[in-house]
Amino acid sequence: MVNKSKIYIAGHKGMIGSAILKTFSKNKKFNLIYEDKKKLDLTDQSKVFKYLKKIKPDGVIIAAAKVGGIVANNSHRAPFIYENISIQSNIIHGSYLAGVKNLIFLGSSCIYPKFAEQPIKEKYLLSNYLEKTNEPYAIAKIAGLKLCENYSSHYKLNYKTLMPCNAYGENDNYDLNSSHFLPALVKKIVEAIRKKKDYITLWGNGKALRELIFSDDIALACKFFLEKKTKSKIFNIGTGLEYSVEQYAKLIMKHLNVNLRIIYDKTKPNGTHRKLLDTSLAKKSGWKSKTSFEKGISIVINDYLKNHLKKDI
Ligand SMILES: NC(=O)c1ccc[n+]([C@@H]2O[C@H](COP(=O)([O-])OP(=O)(O)OC[C@H]3O[C@@H](n4cnc5c(N)ncnc54)[C@H](OP(=O)(O)O)[C@@H]3O)[C@@H](O)[C@H]2O)c1
Repeated sequence: MVNKSKIYIAGHKGMIGSAILKTFSKNKKFNLIYEDKKKLDLTDQSKVFKYLKKIKPDGVIIAAAKVGGIVANNSHRAPFIYENISIQSNIIHGSYLAGVKNLIFLGSSCIYPKFAEQPIKEKYLLSNYLEKTNEPYAIAKIAGLKLCENYSSHYKLNYKTLMPCNAYGENDNYDLNSSHFLPALVKKIVEAIRKKKDYITLWGNGKALRELIFSDDIALACKFFLEKKTKSKIFNIGTGLEYSVEQYAKLIMKHLNVNLRIIYDKTKPNGTHRKLLDTSLAKKSGWKSKTSFEKGISIVINDYLKNHLKKDI
């Protein structure tokens, strides 16, 4: 019998974690390990160290984090920095103590400087100031990335950071107080249709440009890079395509066969104007995204209507 590779997935119930679990489950060579938050709170250092020493995985993927949109990031600044630093440090150091050789940590495009040159290359990290609203989250993530980089060089390990652009997928968060812009758009448009309104209200002026990747493509990137030996330990993960928030709203409306008026609440922030990743490093290594927005959004809308709408009513 072939020895299976034991992979621990932290955050398996989240949007990206569940896509990772689904994607890795398709390959019989993996023995997947995961634990509910109720049983294993990842901010609890001694529990995480003990757990990792007990299961001794071959590989670890960190998709657990405190995550949210502009409102959540800005209004929960202390939990965002504390919980993220704790979760990632516990898992990264715990993995080192447990002899784990391969690890993937998920960073994010929003940890690059606010005014980074576009498209953003990996080397632009820490080259200028961060966006104020998500600075605590970004500082935590940068610390995680630097842990991976330094553990890799100091202890001769293969601990990498993947930097996805904004993501969307099944199992997203539709709470308007903490969601990202895309699930908020889906929810607002579906709600307007249900309530027979002929308009939706969006934050800012709708002109901010965003690159979006489907969560299953990030999962495939994790699978591609986990055991791969690479000189670089940081890889941007994106599609290379960008649309404005207004264009995304119109694409979702087109999919749902409606044409609602868009009212812009210009008293609310737009966030960073543009965030387009340069993914040439990942492409050179042999990875590229494969799901079109049209395909991804139809999966997401079906998931929302089937699994999330009732909870929202
Ligand atoms: N979503 C995006 O657009 C995006 C873009 C780029 C990068 N990323 C990165 O990708 C990763 C996953 O993001 P996501 O969107 O999938 O987030 P998510 O849906 O909120 O999932 C995060 C998961 O982490 C778990 N978690 C949080 N705190 C925990 C704790 N103390 N103990 C155990 N589990 C805990 C959550 O469990 P509960 O739900 O039970 O709290 C949840 O299952 C994050 O590192 C994020 O920074 C996300």
